Amino acid sequence: MSDFFSDFWSYYIAAIALVGIVWCVWLLFSQRKITKSAGAADDTGHVWDGDLRELNNPLPRWWMWMFLLACIFSVAYLILYPGLGSYAGVLGSSTQGELAAHRQAAEKTQHEIYARYLKMDVKQVAADADAREIGQRLFLNYCAQCHGSDARGSRGFPNLTDNDWLYGGDPDTIQQSITKGRNGMMPPFAGAIDGKQAGDTAQYVRSLSGLSYDPIRASRGESTFKTTCVACHGSGGKGNQALGAPNLSDGVWLYGSSEGSIVDAILKGHNGHMPAHEEILTPERIRMLTAYVWGLSNNGGVGQ
Ligand code: HEC
Ligand code: HEC
Repeated sequence: MSDFFSDFWSYYIAAIALVGIVWCVWLLFSQRKITKSAGAADDTGHVWDGDLRELNNPLPRWWMWMFLLACIFSVAYLILYPGLGSYAGVLGSSTQGELAAHRQAAEKTQHEIYARYLKMDVKQVAADADAREIGQRLFLNYCAQCHGSDARGSRGFPNLTDNDWLYGGDPDTIQQSITKGRNGMMPPFAGAIDGKQAGDTAQYVRSLSGLSYDPIRASRGESTFKTTCVACHGSGGKGNQALGAPNLSDGVWLYGSSEGSIVDAILKGHNGHMPAHEEILTPERIRMLTAYVWGLSNNGGVGQ
């Protein structure tokens, strides 16, 4: 039986189905007068090529009956089986039990496949070609919408293939990221830091990873960085994986390296959110994904 957000859609769909059938029956009867003149076919008076006349012949009787039977069949079907909106049908037929049985059977076979990998070390699983294929399929289903189908991410969504980690790239930390999710918390400093100061600080941040910068502005920004930013990003901007504070000196950017992007980060903050997957995925699947993600930036590139 179908589930609708509101009863309205159920009635709406049922009405379309019924009106359709009634219209078909009406069409059939409205054409009956043509059958009445059986025998002497009406001549429409249209003539082509000298002697090709268009006649208005009655509909064959067998065809009329088939049409009518089809209409009767559809009404009977809709009374007996589900089909009219959310009406379950007199026979109460449903394929939900079948679906549940199929699902159970599938989970049982999957369980057997996963059992093999549960006994192996995550790094061994990552090196296994079949496991990688399973991992990739899970990744495409559950992770690709944010991290991209090649896991290379995009603005705000980290690249998982570059061995550069916000929180850490060992299997346990990756598993933790997937299971519990992550919340990056870079507070907005708009009240404490004005636009000019933020621009100067951005110049200093750019200097940390060897990007072009204005030395005078950067030296002004350095003091702001040392008082306000070091607590999370560390001295020299090396980052802090316990907080998910990115390394600002490695040339890998989650939100962009232009002065404008960095000023935005300072004034508005960032709150990258990675949803927890413990409610969505079984521990077995999380383990397959952990191995897959770990393998993307290890394994000498085998997994990529
Ligand atoms: C709704 C979007 C979204 C989905 C879905 C998602 N992620 Fe994430 N993920 C993020 C964001 C955003 C971050 C960065 C969080 C931050 O900025 O602190 C992240 C971070 C991570 C990290 C930590 C990266 C690091 O550098 O430490 C891992 C590992 C990860 N995701 C793996 C996965 C896997 C595997 C899946 C699929 C089960 C997945 N993610 C699904 C958005 C998502
Ligand atoms: C409370 C800790 C904290 C403080 C203080 C802090 N940051 Fe951050 N910063 C973070 C976190 C966490 C992120 C990652 C946000 C996310 O994942 O969405 C971040 C992200 C950034 C980014 C984006 C990096 C990228 O890869 O695109 C920049 C730039 C940045 N911070 C600069 C600064 C500057 C400059 C200061 C000082 C004015 C500062 N931060 C102060 C925690 C902090």
